[in-house]
Amino acid sequence: MILYPHLSVNEQGHLTIGGLDTVELAREFGTPAYIIDEDVIRQNMRIYLKAATENFGAGALPLFASKSLCFKEIYKIAAEEGLGIDCVSGGELYTARAAGFPAEKIFFHGNNKTDRDISDAMEMGVGRIVVDNIDELYAVSDEAKARSITQKILLRITPGIDPHTHKAVVTGSVDSKFGSAIETGQAMDIVKRAIAADNIELCGLHCHIGSQIFDVQPFSDAADIMIRFIADIKNTLGYTIKELNLGGGLGVRYTEDDPQIDYAAAISDIASVVTDFCAQNGIAMPEVRLEPGRSLVAAAGITLYTVGSVKEIPGFKNYISVDGGMPDNPRYALYQSRYTALIANRADMPRSYRATVAGRCCESGDLIGEDMDIQPARRGDILAVLVTGAYNYSMASNYNRIPRPPVIMVKGGKARLAVARETYEDLIRLDL
Ligand code: LLP
Repeated sequence: MILYPHLSVNEQGHLTIGGLDTVELAREFGTPAYIIDEDVIRQNMRIYLKAATENFGAGALPLFASKSLCFKEIYKIAAEEGLGIDCVSGGELYTARAAGFPAEKIFFHGNNKTDRDISDAMEMGVGRIVVDNIDELYAVSDEAKARSITQKILLRITPGIDPHTHKAVVTGSVDSKFGSAIETGQAMDIVKRAIAADNIELCGLHCHIGSQIFDVQPFSDAADIMIRFIADIKNTLGYTIKELNLGGGLGVRYTEDDPQIDYAAAISDIASVVTDFCAQNGIAMPEVRLEPGRSLVAAAGITLYTVGSVKEIPGFKNYISVDGGMPDNPRYALYQSRYTALIANRADMPRSYRATVAGRCCESGDLIGEDMDIQPARRGDILAVLVTGAYNYSMASNYNRIPRPPVIMVKGGKARLAVARETYEDLIRLDL
């Protein structure tokens, strides 16, 4: 096992995923390629669903935050596992619909939905629109009125929590671009307006404090703040908020230095804050939604590359260059995210070499990681980067006109394409 039970090394010394030899996968599908172990995603979805319903009650529902990994098949898997989904753009909605995902289990997010987004969401009949701000509240109300429907909404609330993670992924602080803050009184104001707005049914509140958070305390604190706010709304306005969406954000183990979170235990801890408060204050338990992205899909994925040049700069550093980089994984460039890399065809050897793994873009910051411990590498080796299932394919770009890699799903000892490799023809398809 390397970091996770589905990653191992076979008799040839090759890295395996879901029992399949990654060197063979690289030969069959080419590189770079994202490989995703479907069973890992399904297991994680089951852990969340079980823990959510056991701890928050039968009405609880985890929603897969599909910004972390978005293509048609992932929505089919979420539907089969009984989860709802969080979509954040017209494109995600479109993909979910194309996959046949049930519209009533879609929660539509985003801090700046366009008129078209709002109209598309209503056309589809999404279950909830998560309204970010006052302008949007009235835009949703107007569209619902024009369609003579009542739109069910949640309001995005900023609980004012600093979750100690990378500043680029903090979202629940008072000065955030997302939602309305309790501290400034703007949250109560938008609640009042939503109750009074035409063609709107205010069902619940939503918060999301950030991402890649290992400490459970900030989640418990946010849950505490939100349930107190729900009680405050009941006491001051006499209005019952029935749904509470606590967002996503639990962290994932990327390297041996990261802890492995017990997600079921974390959910149980967070739930006790809400259930205890409701019991002590005679408040009906809201229906709780959780919105995990990374913790459902990150560990399931690896990226396979082929090593090109290996460059040693004496007294400075060693570079291993691969046939991908920031276009398929921009996370080091954006957040200095740390990963585990290994040479897949010599995965049984010690990771005794220290190197910076570089991509092939014309950009010094195009790195997969600096000073990574890895096996010594040669041109033609297969280099695997682990735990790339979340925010890699979904954040991929065509920078330098590099085609996006395929997504290959592994299940039951078989591999199949879920997303084909982009071609050069695809790249010029829209050029007039
Ligand atoms: N719900 C909402 C409203 C969100 O904004 C997010 C993530 C999630 C749920 C899921 O959070 P997760 O469980 O995946 O932490 N690109 C960054 C992460 C950005 C997260 C954005 N929002 C990265 O690569 O680290």
